[in-house]
Amino acid sequence: MAFAGTGSIWMNGSLVNWADAKIHIMSHVVHYGSGVFEGARCYDTPKGSACFRLQAHMKRLVNSAKIYRMEYSLEVEGFCQAVLDTIRANGFKSCYIRPLVYRGYGAPGVNPLASPVDAAILCWEWGQYLGPEALEKGVDVCVSSWARSAPNTFPTAAKATANYASGQLIKMEAVLDGYSEGIALDVAGHVSEGSGENIFLVRDGVIYTPPLSSSVLQGITRDSVITIARDLGYEVREEALLRESLYIADELFFVGTAAEITPIRSVDKIVIGPGHCGPITKTIQARFFDIIEGRSPDSHGWLTYVYPEASSADTKNREKVVSG
Ligand SMILES: Cc1ncc(COP(=O)(O)O)c(C=O)c1O
Repeated sequence: MAFAGTGSIWMNGSLVNWADAKIHIMSHVVHYGSGVFEGARCYDTPKGSACFRLQAHMKRLVNSAKIYRMEYSLEVEGFCQAVLDTIRANGFKSCYIRPLVYRGYGAPGVNPLASPVDAAILCWEWGQYLGPEALEKGVDVCVSSWARSAPNTFPTAAKATANYASGQLIKMEAVLDGYSEGIALDVAGHVSEGSGENIFLVRDGVIYTPPLSSSVLQGITRDSVITIARDLGYEVREEALLRESLYIADELFFVGTAAEITPIRSVDKIVIGPGHCGPITKTIQARFFDIIEGRSPDSHGWLTYVYPEASSADTKNREKVVSG
């Protein structure tokens, strides 16, 4: 059954009813995957609804568009404002946020430059991506037979719709084989990431995650988890990881906007550590949820409040996004 969205979708500056938000079948993006997008979340905190790392997400969107030579009339602040307007128009307390910049209806053929650049922002209420019990009990995953794309094929620094052709192959194989998710290796055989999540490994008290050169998306949750772990006094290393290091890890977990921080309890049917959420994963997960749900101080300025009555002090503390 089709997903029943509600409310309004922002399309090139206008709010359009969910059911009427349509594009032409000849649009370039439909044929050639010429889109870049974001996935962010708005949480219902005790101080009001707040978007998590909105500026960082919109900066990545603008950078993804730049890599694909897509020029649009909004920059980071304009997209942030449009996201806030869309959430307000829909009256959501918490929601998933999906901005999309894409090549619309112009000319036929691969060359995207003759098709216009359009943008949309969709919001909907979305629960746990890997299932309601996943955050606590963990998920069973496999190593995918599909490798991530090699550097200099699809740029992993861009969150492009086309990248998700690879993600779909990884996800379908995993699900059809009875797993929740697949972990892909890069073309050198090192651990890369899940179809929609970055991965972390714990061994002998040290936390590891693959470097950006292992064909991973530069995840904003990944960056937040590295920051939180270092704040908590853990050593975090970004280094190439062998496939077998997954099997002998003390703890493993996925991170991402949709998956948040989800423990992995088995890989290829090999039980990881205690077979449930390990102590370091639990500590980082607790701090992450305390920040995003407003129980811990937002010391890194990661929350942007949506409705005007929310604390102005926290708005002043907002994260500064560096260029690049
Ligand atoms: C392939 C891939 N890796 C990692 C992530 C996690 O990134 P983020 O934490 O910015 O959501 C995502 C989610 O967008 C993803 O699609």
